[in-house]
Amino acid sequence: MNKIRAAITGVGGYVPDYILTNKELENMVETTDDWITSRTGIKERRILKGENQGVSVMAVEAVKRLLAKTKVDPKEIDLIIFATVTADMTFPASANIVASAVGATNSFSYDMGAACSGFLYALTTGASFIESGRYKKVIVIGGDKMSSILDYTDRTTCIIFGDGAGCVLLEPTTEEVGVIDYILKSDGSGEAYLHQKAGGSRIPASIDSVSNKQHYVYQEGSAVYKFAVTNMAEVAAQVAERNNLTKENISWLVPHQANKRIIDATASRVGIAEDHVMMNIERYGNTTAGTIPLLLWDYETKLKKGDNLLMAAFGGGFTWGAVYVKWAYDS
Ligand code: UT7
Repeated sequence: MNKIRAAITGVGGYVPDYILTNKELENMVETTDDWITSRTGIKERRILKGENQGVSVMAVEAVKRLLAKTKVDPKEIDLIIFATVTADMTFPASANIVASAVGATNSFSYDMGAACSGFLYALTTGASFIESGRYKKVIVIGGDKMSSILDYTDRTTCIIFGDGAGCVLLEPTTEEVGVIDYILKSDGSGEAYLHQKAGGSRIPASIDSVSNKQHYVYQEGSAVYKFAVTNMAEVAAQVAERNNLTKENISWLVPHQANKRIIDATASRVGIAEDHVMMNIERYGNTTAGTIPLLLWDYETKLKKGDNLLMAAFGGGFTWGAVYVKWAYDS
């Protein structure tokens, strides 16, 4: 009997309407459009505005679009995994909130935190549930409302991140398509360079934690940059090599959108030309767990059955990884 694989059979996405441009940031912090564009590749990012608007608002819209497009009844969904570091609340899981809002009443659901690598961690976990033969329809979401944890007086972090969410549907197949191979890695010593200090059980929220600005993203950018460039490129090359993927047969590199220079370095390490690299960093910035599913959403119409996609990410933890997916349908 052929092995059961997990095929991506649909994509959904959502970004909020409000566009925060580099020009607007020039009026908020000491920066320039030229600095941001040349150092990161970002021109604008989306921001979710309004009271009581958590990350689940964007995920619900993305999942509704996915269900409408694939014509799947939400009651058929077995499992929803939501990769995010900006959950609506510490508990319940935002995945529970999404499942209820979209009518996935027969599913179980949970959140997963692996920062910018979160979508790849969740995709491979969801694929394992499908490959086990036990579940038939799994939705994997990646999304973050990074604007909720950014200090808009800190020019080193507020220019990078944006808000957005994307998702995919996984279903079983016995064809040679779907999630084929992956390598995932983590190294907790990365905590020193990229973290949100307070709000967890080590430093619960207090007047001091707020006045010390400990609820915002802390990042030592150049240190993270060096780890990201080396590790994301290396793991992508390893997955490519052991699957005989070369510049001739890789249809698309699907890299986490943190910095265009990191993306270029990864593409060059694997030998992929720029027109085979998915990119939307200029429009959305870094949406953390949202970047890879939002790329799939933006590029879905260009994808054909049998295309080889090499996904790669690096982020807080540190966490990093690469996933080889063979596309399962003509869009
Ligand atoms: O997705 C999660 C993982 N995160 C990443 O992968 C991010 C990795 N890091 C990066 O992308 C880059 O390090 C940054 C974009 C964050 C920063 O770029 P950089 O080229 O590494 O700059 P830097 O931190 O080395 O700073 C260079 C200079 C500094 O000034 P001095 O000390 O040389 O006078 C900064 O203060 O640039 C200054 N600077 C800015 N200047 C204008 C930092 N941010 C800004 C800014 N506008 N927004």
